Amino acid sequence: MSGKARFLTFEGGEGAGKSTQIRLLANWLETQGVEVLLTREPGGSPGAELIRDLLLKGAVDRWLPISEALMLAAARADHIERTIKPALEAGKWVLCDRFYDSSVAYQGAGRGVGIEEVQHIQEIAFGDMRPDLTLILDLPVEIGLKRALAREGAKSDMEDRFERMERSFHETLRQAFLSIAEREPERCVVLDADQAIERLQENLRTIIMDKALLS
Ligand code: TYD
Repeated sequence: MSGKARFLTFEGGEGAGKSTQIRLLANWLETQGVEVLLTREPGGSPGAELIRDLLLKGAVDRWLPISEALMLAAARADHIERTIKPALEAGKWVLCDRFYDSSVAYQGAGRGVGIEEVQHIQEIAFGDMRPDLTLILDLPVEIGLKRALAREGAKSDMEDRFERMERSFHETLRQAFLSIAEREPERCVVLDADQAIERLQENLRTIIMDKALLS
C-alpha cells in the first residue's frame, strides 16, 4: 500500500452527484494501491444509522432545528470513533459522503441554528476532527433539485425531508457551502458539478494529484 491514510469529505446540495463521484474515485484510488473505506453521513456506524432514520423520515417539521443539530453531532461523534478513526489508524483512505460542513450549511445556515452555534456543538461532541480535503460539488439549485427529484422517483419509498424544503432553503445552502470554502481555502475545493460525470471525475483526480495526497 502506498502513502498515508487520508480523510476526504464530499459536500454539496441536493442532486450534485456526490455518491457517483465518490464511487468512481474509490475505484481509481484502489488501482493506485490505496485501501479505501466509503462511508456517509448521517450514518456510517450502527448507532448513527439509527439516528439517520429518525432525521430523514417523516414530516418536514418533525424536528426542531436545534434538535437536528444535536442529533447530527451525536451521530457524528459515534461515526468518528467507531468507523473513521479505526479505518485511518489501519492506514486506509476514508471517503465520506457529507460531514460537518453539511451541519454548518443545513442546520447552521438553512435551518437558522447559527453557524457559530453549530460549530460550538460539534466542538463539544468531537473536538477537532478536520478532513485533509473537502470537495464541494457546486451547481445551480434548479438543476440539483431536478436531478434529486428524478432519483426520488426511482425509489419512492425513500422519504427525504430536506429535499422537500423550499427553494430559498436550497439557495441558502449553496451560499453557505461557498462561504465555508472561502473561509478555509487550504482544506476546501469547489468544483462545478454541472458537467459530465467523466469530466468532473477527472477534475477530482487532478486535485488529488496536485495536492500530492497519494505520496
Ligand atoms: P441523503 O439521502 O444521503 O442525501 P444526499 O444524497 O443529498 O447526501 O440524505 C442526507 C440528507 O441529510 C441531506 O438532505 C442533507 C442532510 N444533512 C443535514 O441536514 N445535516 C448534516 O449534517 C448531514 C450530514 C446531512
